[in-house]
Amino acid sequence: MRREPSARTARRGRVPAVSVADAARLVGGVLLPVAAQGAIVRRPRAVALAHRLDLDARAVRTVRRLRERHGPDPVHLRLPGLSFAVPVEPEDVRRVLDGAPEPFSPASPEKRGALAHFQPRGVLISSPADRRERRPFNESVLDAGQPLHHLAGPFAAAVAQEAQQLADEARSQGALTWPLLSRAWWRAVRRVTLGESARADEQVTDDLLALRRRANWSGLAPVDRRRRERFLGRVRHYVEAAEPGSLAALVASTPAAPGVAPHEQVPQWLFAFDAAAWASSRALELLAAHPDVARRVREEAPAPSTDPAAPVARRPVLRSVVLESLRLWPTTPALLRQTTTTTSWRTGDLPERTGVLVFAPFFHRDESRLPQAHRLAPELWLDADGQEDPRGAVDWPLVPFSAGPGMCPGRGVVLLTTSTLLAALAQQEWRPAVPRLRADRPLPGTLDPFALRLLPG
Ligand code: HEM
Repeated sequence: MRREPSARTARRGRVPAVSVADAARLVGGVLLPVAAQGAIVRRPRAVALAHRLDLDARAVRTVRRLRERHGPDPVHLRLPGLSFAVPVEPEDVRRVLDGAPEPFSPASPEKRGALAHFQPRGVLISSPADRRERRPFNESVLDAGQPLHHLAGPFAAAVAQEAQQLADEARSQGALTWPLLSRAWWRAVRRVTLGESARADEQVTDDLLALRRRANWSGLAPVDRRRRERFLGRVRHYVEAAEPGSLAALVASTPAAPGVAPHEQVPQWLFAFDAAAWASSRALELLAAHPDVARRVREEAPAPSTDPAAPVARRPVLRSVVLESLRLWPTTPALLRQTTTTTSWRTGDLPERTGVLVFAPFFHRDESRLPQAHRLAPELWLDADGQEDPRGAVDWPLVPFSAGPGMCPGRGVVLLTTSTLLAALAQQEWRPAVPRLRADRPLPGTLDPFALRLLPG
């Protein structure tokens, strides 16, 4: 890991800021579309518009042009009261993400303002001192870095049961659509996260949704304290109930240092499971457009079992399709950090409290450096033996789950639950009502997951 130079040696000129015209391009072409689509909960109409205008592909082109014009140092945007840097080199992405929580703090002001609406003591917006206790707690409950979570059996069984019901509903209604997928997914998520008795508790996830809508406005919207109390109270109830086979039970039984606030770690998980549904919707569409890959998925392991005691298959091909869905259409397109000290770059320094925005789509879709940029390429995530490489792609910043000390500790649980859902659905063929993807054409920069409509094949 690169050492940060001392402030004394670092005190040179600033990294030059871009012109007003380029600042406008960056704000209008990259930052605004991310904010308008909703950073914390997506706004379906804005997503549909972004899909029509292929805004994410345009944003990638904007950043590429800025890199060509300004060279390898982060594009530095300076406006009154605001200093932002957008890295354009893979090595700088690594440096920023490896440098959490200091000198690149994940608890940026925008994120603190947003996440305080529903998880004021969550790890992601914690001080470095609180993070030291909360991060290991999250890792421990989520079995971060393990090949399969030790509760994979009950988790997969719950998801497989909901997937079966979903497939029945889709067949009887004539199409697999987003509203059906989303309802089934939340039933499964509540069972896995909170316990069996939460299966039909839509109030708890509806409260979270309402809080997330306000969180889209970050600190500009006042916190709805009554609803937040009610929501956190419900989550605490499930942790106290500690139903076997749920994450809530592990929250209750995992030793926690005094500053951890165990049940207040759960909202991040519930919130983040939504992104897994968007990724699954797009993965279904990828499979429908790539029948050869769908066939490999069916062949790699039998259908998931609905018995919690049955062994769970790892499904490397299907997991890599989910990873591809997240590479092609990252659900966290902007990884935000804030510098805690002066940082030194090639052409100069950036002062303390500079915002850093790693724009994942730029790296995931840069065809000048990644030949597979615009096609489905499961091999990017598989090693020579066809096994999923748990480190992800090491030489290239493919960072759908971020990287370094702030990397998503839920990665394994996400890949387990989504691959179980998809494996159950992939037992039969589905074809798009209106094909939006083609295997022989570059894949679009934006894919609206809410427009899913697959017909039983
Ligand atoms: C498709 C689904 C998901 C994706 C793409 C994803 C991605 C990410 C990313 C990019 C971050 C870093 C955010 C940042 O630095 O600002 C993150 C953080 C985190 N994720 Fe996930 N996540 C997903 C689902 C989940 C789930 C289901 C859980 C838990 C069950 C989870 C738990 C967490 C936690 C606790 C953090 C904060 C880590 C820290 O600050 O140290 N995520 N996730």
